[in-house]
Amino acid sequence: MENSGKNKNIKLKKIAIPLTVLLLTGVITAFSYSTTLNSANNYTKVPDIAVKKKDSIASVKAFAKVYSVLMSPRCMNCHPKGDVPLQGDDSHIHTMQPKRGTDGKGLYAMKCANCHQPENTPGLHAPPGNPNWHLPPADMKMVFEGKSSHELAKQLIDPNQNGHKDMKKLIEHADDGLVLAGWKPAQGSKLPPLSHKEFKKAWITWLETGAYAPKK
Ligand code: HEC
Ligand code: HEC
Repeated sequence: MENSGKNKNIKLKKIAIPLTVLLLTGVITAFSYSTTLNSANNYTKVPDIAVKKKDSIASVKAFAKVYSVLMSPRCMNCHPKGDVPLQGDDSHIHTMQPKRGTDGKGLYAMKCANCHQPENTPGLHAPPGNPNWHLPPADMKMVFEGKSSHELAKQLIDPNQNGHKDMKKLIEHADDGLVLAGWKPAQGSKLPPLSHKEFKKAWITWLETGAYAPKK
């Protein structure tokens, strides 16, 4: 009796191993197939994103609105491709050339906070203010300037390029102090193309419908 029990066990093992191998091969094939599909149509998804309802059309449409704000001078001036911020409605290089520095807060005597006070300084073309006024750090520059809509959409949801933000943090960022500062510009500077409310709605819609990147 004991012997036949052992035999059964051995038989089971004999089947179990090839079965596991077969299953694993299946999973790996399915996985590589889905990644091929993803790269084929150029869509990237937010890792561990809580997508409410995937809808590539609604998502891409919402991102067009988001992009119009991100590329407006009020946002892009702090997201330059170089190490000096941009300035003004024509996004020219910041006069006096304050440098990013490793933490984004300026270098040596040219610290951003020396001139950028916690509140806007009154007067035409006086420095806009915020207690936290600075550029993204040198090791994660979060460049908007020069990025196509496709490139920027992918960058924004890449944790290795967005400041390690997951879905929740990305949504929260719509109300970040420096984002809100875009709607309190220095006297004489124009506002972003949408209201903050419209921007926030488009930002969340884009993310929650799957954070699809436009084709271009
Ligand atoms: C004073 C400079 C400054 C201004 C103005 C500014 N930002 Fe930023 N932005 C930063 C800094 C610094 C970070 C990095 C800090 C962080 O990630 O929390 C950042 C990070 C971000 C991120 C996260 C990066 C990513 O790839 O997901 C987004 C999105 C963003 N900003 C959007 C905006 C928008 C929209 C505006 C305009 C309405 C704006 N920013 C205006 C400095 C600025
Ligand atoms: C010596 C003073 C000074 C320093 C230092 C300084 N800024 Fe400025 N900044 C100004 C002034 C003045 C303006 C407003 C100019 C205008 O509106 O024409 C300005 C405007 C800006 C703008 C444009 C805002 C907009 O809405 O277009 C950005 C972005 C900016 N500064 C970022 C920075 C950052 C980031 C640093 C630190 C790395 C910094 N600045 C350091 C004086 C300074």
